[in-house]
Amino acid sequence: MLGPVILAASRSDRLRRVVSAAPVTKPVVNRFIPGESVDQIVPIIVDATSKGLELTMDVVGEDITTPEQAAAARDAYLELIEHLKALDLGTRAEMSVKLSMFGQALEGGHELALSNVRPVVEAAAAIGTTVTLDAEDHTTLDSMFAIHEELRKDFPQTGCVIQAYLFRTEDDARRLAAAGSRVRVVKGAYKEPASVAYQEKPEIDKAYIRVLRILMEGDGYPMVGSHDPRIVEIAQELARRAGRKPGDFEFQMLYGIRTEEHVRLAREGHRMRVYTAYGTDWYGYFMRRLAEKPANLLFFLRSVLTK
Ligand code: FDA
Repeated sequence: MLGPVILAASRSDRLRRVVSAAPVTKPVVNRFIPGESVDQIVPIIVDATSKGLELTMDVVGEDITTPEQAAAARDAYLELIEHLKALDLGTRAEMSVKLSMFGQALEGGHELALSNVRPVVEAAAAIGTTVTLDAEDHTTLDSMFAIHEELRKDFPQTGCVIQAYLFRTEDDARRLAAAGSRVRVVKGAYKEPASVAYQEKPEIDKAYIRVLRILMEGDGYPMVGSHDPRIVEIAQELARRAGRKPGDFEFQMLYGIRTEEHVRLAREGHRMRVYTAYGTDWYGYFMRRLAEKPANLLFFLRSVLTK
């Protein structure tokens, strides 16, 4: 019950200001967002890749309000790519981007987001890696998929995310499960109405498995974005039945969540990619992590109350 309330709070500017300014928030935030600058994040990239993990890097930020902020988001990714170039990690460190951070919701936003994300995708390709477009709320998805298709004309390795909780997603999965595609499937983290999305966990889990089956049986490269032990097990079984070996698909989990499982899956020979977010505009990302597991909220509140 708490999840939807926290998701509604994730859109509140007033709460954003209060929570972001509270010094006690920092240690709790650090569990999920381990740095605010690229200099703080580089040692984390080096450490994770030395353990056999792969990464997808997210510079946090979304719902920006001016074209200047969108350009700054682009530049933050370009700065990250400069650092990745020096580390020479290839696809072991790719990037995840939210198009809302590149201006998608502003006037002329579709074109603006495309023009801001393209140089990032180009720069990523120039150092031998790639970009995945995150999925945000359902009203943004037609634009996201159109930008994805446009980018893939020049950079076919550009990935995208589909959300199992949306009714539309099985159709999207069928369309995307083609040779050369890279598709991450997740359950979905936004507050969506019952007119477009399943609301209950058992329904969402079943939908996830249906979508995953489509991807595994298709010709693309599935990226299994989930911490759910049952999904991890079923993904391995679906892959086996589809004749896929470890390396023909990958697991993805978020930094700070089920960390031992990251290492276990990598040791078993799977590609395991950790979604690692950093930056100063962490409020929206942080609140979605609280909403996914209300126990995180209790931990957060306890740390506030005991200060
Ligand atoms: P579920 O919520 O059922 O959790 C399974 C178990 O995982 C829990 O019992 C708990 O142990 C652990 N767990 C899950 N979330 C936790 C948390 N926050 N804190 C502590 N433990 C937690 N969404 C989206 O809408 N668009 C996107 O682009 C992405 N991108 C993305 C990338 C990657 C790599 C991942 C793993 C997830 C996303 N998501 C996302 C988020 C996704 O939609 C979903 O909200 C979370 O992954 C939680 O769902 P699970 O599949 O983990 O299952």
